[in-house]
Amino acid sequence: MVIAVRNSLSLVASRAAVMVILLLLISDCQCQAQLYSTFYEKSCPNALGTIRTAIRTAIARERRMAASLIRLHFHDCFVQGCDASILLDDAPSITSEKDALQNKDSARGYEVIDKAKSDVEHICPGVVSCADILAVAARDASEYVGGPSWTVKLGRRDSTTASVSLATSQLPRFTASLKSLIDLFRSKGLSARDMVALSGSHTIGQAQCVTFRNRIYNNASDIDAGFASTRRRRCPATLGNGDGNLAALDLVTPNSFDNNYFKNLMQKKGLLESDQVLFSGGSTDNIVSEYSRNPSTFKSDFAAAMIKMGDIEPLTGSAGIIRRICSRVD
Ligand code: HEM
Repeated sequence: MVIAVRNSLSLVASRAAVMVILLLLISDCQCQAQLYSTFYEKSCPNALGTIRTAIRTAIARERRMAASLIRLHFHDCFVQGCDASILLDDAPSITSEKDALQNKDSARGYEVIDKAKSDVEHICPGVVSCADILAVAARDASEYVGGPSWTVKLGRRDSTTASVSLATSQLPRFTASLKSLIDLFRSKGLSARDMVALSGSHTIGQAQCVTFRNRIYNNASDIDAGFASTRRRRCPATLGNGDGNLAALDLVTPNSFDNNYFKNLMQKKGLLESDQVLFSGGSTDNIVSEYSRNPSTFKSDFAAAMIKMGDIEPLTGSAGIIRRICSRVD
């Protein structure tokens, strides 16, 4: 009898211990709430089709917009996570990220996201976040210009804050060394391979003279001479002269999403310093050369890295809000 009581008491005690451990594990869990692709299936079944139409219309009007929209999602995710903070305008409590050095007079496509948002608000008011629209727009843009497509995970919510100082410190600079690029991307959970694959989106889009002037005038040993002289024609040597003149990031096929960017790097024809450092005798040379030989590996790695990037610190559940107008919190 005594033994039976003792046994059942120790069973209760061990069960209680297991419960306590489980509770401790749950309360200590830094688990990231999951995003999933069917998030709007019931609440706004036509959301994705509506966004897609708005994005395709904008790119049909101006093909470069595909590049600008992919970059906008990147510049959102690297600053306090994929929370649409980049879209907020100045307000009494907000200093807009649009004015950070890397975005000012450079990031574009805000009005395209605003239009997609207003179309979606029309069918499902207050349901679809601006952060998700940015993620879907980037995928639709890639697909439209011949890049890979992927299933976008959804359920991000929008921030009520923005940080111009984080934008200035967390967005990469075109003068960055390979090591600092690898470290920065690693700090966001992205590998060196992800970083090289994502930089492959410089297969489309354009850069301003001010971002590559130093490279084409002062980098004689690490740049193809013919390429430098062609680029000098529309980018005068003196600061303040033609700073905004544009050149294609991929000189061979500027309008299609292919692996020519990597072939260019191997011929020392990368436009930005931060492009060429990916192939300059360092640890990423072999990845560049692999992507230059194998376009399908590049495309599948790019898609996987975009999904990973879209997972950076999302606001989910009851965190954040669904903004009705992407540029404002109220
Ligand atoms: C690795 C570090 C990176 C640096 C230093 C960098 C820097 C730049 C710079 C300076 C420009 C030209 C901006 C201008 O002249 O106004 C540019 C354009 C662009 N970047 Fe990057 N970038 C990086 C990575 C990425 C990544 C990861 C993506 C996308 C996932 C991306 C997508 C683009 C696109 C598509 C454009 C063309 C935009 C347009 O034509 O509007 N970049 N980038």
